[in-house]
Amino acid sequence: MKIAMFSTKSYDRTFFDAINKEVGHEIKYLESRLTPETSSLAEGFEVVCAFVNDRLDKEVLRDLSEGGVRLLALRSAGFNHVDLAAAQKLGITVARVPAYSPYAVAEHTLALLLGLNRQTHRAYNRVRERNFALDGLLGFDLHKKTVGIVGTGKIGTVFAELMAGFGCELLACDPYPSDDCREFGVEYVDRDELFERSHIVSLHCPLTPQTHHVIDADAISRMRDGVMLINTSRGALIDTRAVIDGLKSEKIGYLGLDVYEEEADLFFEDLSDRVIQDDVFARLLTFPNVLITGHQGFFTREALTNIAEATLDNVTAFETGEGTLHEVIPEKVEAPELDET
Ligand code: NAI
Repeated sequence: MKIAMFSTKSYDRTFFDAINKEVGHEIKYLESRLTPETSSLAEGFEVVCAFVNDRLDKEVLRDLSEGGVRLLALRSAGFNHVDLAAAQKLGITVARVPAYSPYAVAEHTLALLLGLNRQTHRAYNRVRERNFALDGLLGFDLHKKTVGIVGTGKIGTVFAELMAGFGCELLACDPYPSDDCREFGVEYVDRDELFERSHIVSLHCPLTPQTHHVIDADAISRMRDGVMLINTSRGALIDTRAVIDGLKSEKIGYLGLDVYEEEADLFFEDLSDRVIQDDVFARLLTFPNVLITGHQGFFTREALTNIAEATLDNVTAFETGEGTLHEVIPEKVEAPELDET
């Protein structure tokens, strides 16, 4: 099938070309992000392949449908950026990659956690300047600390296993508790108790109307003084302004982010010669105890191979009716309440 692939980088081409050699779809790699201004580039294509910061609202979907698009193949697990009801009305099938490597994201979460705790990013710069002083680099043992995990699906479960390996006490909240997690010692509690007891809080739930700003001023006020907060899921799980207040008051002792509410205008691009217009993001960059990466949790060789394979499998399944099409069906997307533990 003819696929218009938006928001592509050289690495997407490398991994998709490698898999497509065997599959034989016709892929047009487009560097542009999908927006109302660029949607006409998909004219004449039956499939659009989109990524996390592409715009997939009613307006864009209508343009795509008018141009002949019948399948939207997301090369991501998250689909919070798609107007599913509009896609259904327009007859556009939406498919996603449900799981490509929970290890990639869980291990990156751990990288942020360890980096923040032992300040390896600051130590690296100091040593390069021949500054071997240790002041400001004091960390804490993870052993016996309490880690609270919001969402124990595929990624949250791997992260819980990793933290169990450090000898941490594990708390979690999830409307669908996992027996596997219980087996290796995870205790399910309600959200408030998780916030109150945890030294480290890590978010691994999807972004839904129920989880939007799940970390707000009230949630932060319940947390331990000096808590470490990590978000590798979706930016809007966190009310960034409330988190900045928490950092200023020192209620939050460490913040690790791989995602940001307004990341669409920033991430995945080299903006080193440009002035950042987002004052909230610029403020975050001023804190010594904030470590931000630009949505790279998924970025491992294994994950990119799996994403390319699963995306092209979705396209083939749509075309031939054979194999599994990982379709996102609006009626099946239910948003469970956070407190139903
Ligand atoms: P999953 O669907 O396997 O697990 C999500 C879990 O969250 C489920 O167990 C679900 O019951 C739970 N959940 C739903 N609503 C909840 C609520 N209100 N409170 C607590 N738990 C709730 O998803 P997976 O694969 O583990 O991914 C988690 C998130 O990670 C994705 O939604 C996505 O936003 C993010 N992600 C980030 C990436 C990155 O590069 N930084 C890459 C891939 C995913």
